[in-house]
Amino acid sequence: MNLLKDASNMKTYIENDGFHALHITLEHTQDEIIEEVERSGLLGRGGAAFPTGLKMKFVRNEKTTPKYIVGNADEGEPGTFKDRVLIEKNPFQILEGMIISAYAIGASKGFFYLRYEYRNLVKEIERKMEEMREENLLGKNIMGTDFSFDIELVLGAGAYVCGEETALMESIEGKRGFPRIKPPYPAQYGLWGKPTLINNVETLANIPLIVNMGPKKYAEMGKEGCTGPKLFSVSGYVRKPGVYEANLGEYTVREMIEIAGGVDGEFKGLMLGGGAAGFILNGNFLDMPLCFKDAKEWGVSLGTGNIIVFNQSVNIWDVLLNIAKFFEHESCGQCFPCRYGTKRIRKIIEKILEGKGTTEDIEKINATARAMKIASLCPLGSSAMLAYESAMQNFRDELLEVIS
Ligand SMILES: Cc1cc2nc3c(=O)[nH]c(=O)nc-3n(C[C@H](O)[C@H](O)[C@H](O)COP(=O)(O)O)c2cc1C
Ligand code: SF4
Repeated sequence: MNLLKDASNMKTYIENDGFHALHITLEHTQDEIIEEVERSGLLGRGGAAFPTGLKMKFVRNEKTTPKYIVGNADEGEPGTFKDRVLIEKNPFQILEGMIISAYAIGASKGFFYLRYEYRNLVKEIERKMEEMREENLLGKNIMGTDFSFDIELVLGAGAYVCGEETALMESIEGKRGFPRIKPPYPAQYGLWGKPTLINNVETLANIPLIVNMGPKKYAEMGKEGCTGPKLFSVSGYVRKPGVYEANLGEYTVREMIEIAGGVDGEFKGLMLGGGAAGFILNGNFLDMPLCFKDAKEWGVSLGTGNIIVFNQSVNIWDVLLNIAKFFEHESCGQCFPCRYGTKRIRKIIEKILEGKGTTEDIEKINATARAMKIASLCPLGSSAMLAYESAMQNFRDELLEVIS
């Protein structure tokens, strides 16, 4: 176990090599640390799988100061609960990763953005940070060096869209969580217009591993194009739903479902990746390796690494209605295609579920999906229909069966 080890108290964490990576880091230059992260092949765990070292480099190369770092623990993706488990079990590894990253990019202040629904964890995280300050691991002159850095916990706004990096920054700045138009990207124009590195908390927890093991050994956990350990949230009709850790590429979808106790009932399909980047897939995808690169080759995405399993009792139109209601509720309303499109899709699916669906309704869904994809301001709107589109490819007969 590299990520999910039970090390929520500092003593256990230190006994498990805790803060050793920070010690090593402070004896290296910023560029050396970034190079290690680049060579490790680490890809972001927040959904988009962007190369972490490259993003660090972008922020490092910016001349403007101060610079900021954000640990994204907003975790609002339906079916994703791995960050909560990671925070509960191994919080110091996230915080250590944040300090190392801050050192590498030259940030003096960090924000830990925690999902509002996880507010029961606030006191515990703040207590951990206080312990670290007492041990000179956070705050002024960390470990007696001239590097100073501190972290502030910010409780999220209770909106899914606030997990999107630009909406998140607006939220930290005390404004309404409306996504910003990109470019400029946070690396150039982030919090208060300053260079900002935003990483998912699972991504950050990988940083101490890379520094401790060295990038080569780290990359050996996994395969080319998808290196290192990954957390998978497995739920739905499985016998042992939960968070499972595996190296990327180590298991196929089928094997991961087996690890989660196997299907409860007769397998029908699954949702992979989450709501925003979610794909509704049939049994043809069971042998796909759980690796970012393979997933891309299969035309899908691992997203945040979640798998929701459906048995034969699940009606795919019901699943689509659930997703449509989620997006309608979570659309921030800033741009028309998403604000109106999500509502329109929900209404049409309700009509179909009442048995009144026509081929014209399917045309309307397709046209709305196209408009949302092209004209939405942020990925919430532009990827909202991925689930529908993939369901139409993989469960076409079943979906069209109820259309007159
Ligand atoms: C609607 C929406 C919600 C998102 N929610 C989260 C989230 O809760 N946590 C997260 O880490 N990334 C989330 N993201 C992705 C972030 O915008 C960003 O890509 C990520 O934090 C970058 O971290 P990484 O490079 O470590 O993956 C979301 C994106 C979108 C479009
Ligand atoms: S696409 Fe949706 S969530 Fe994103 S800015 Fe537009 S209305 Fe808001």
